[in-house]
Amino acid sequence: TIHLYGPHAGQHAEVKGKEGKSLMEAAVAANIEGIAADCGGLMTCATCHVYVRAPWAQQLPPPSDEENGMLGFTAAERQPHSRLSCQIELKAALDGLEVDLPPTQY
Ligand code: FES
Repeated sequence: TIHLYGPHAGQHAEVKGKEGKSLMEAAVAANIEGIAADCGGLMTCATCHVYVRAPWAQQLPPPSDEENGMLGFTAAERQPHSRLSCQIELKAALDGLEVDLPPTQY
């Protein structure tokens, strides 16, 4: 189970995703508002931006150079734990992962 918190107080959604799928795919399948994912995971849109909560952020592999570059194009301000959810691969060890959605993707 992945917990997604909206930019407004009290907004919380839970999604379940299959191992090997991305967090973006799980969120889109669950119609989570706040994840746009216009490029479908090709790492060209930066509209799947999320803020990963501690201590989870440290458990993810660091962003690739390509992801790092695209994180410079997020609509909402980039923060230290900003990631592209299409690059977060779901696995058992990430069960319980918590992310905050940015106020906007555009
Ligand atoms: Fe486009 Fe992640 S879905 S960059």
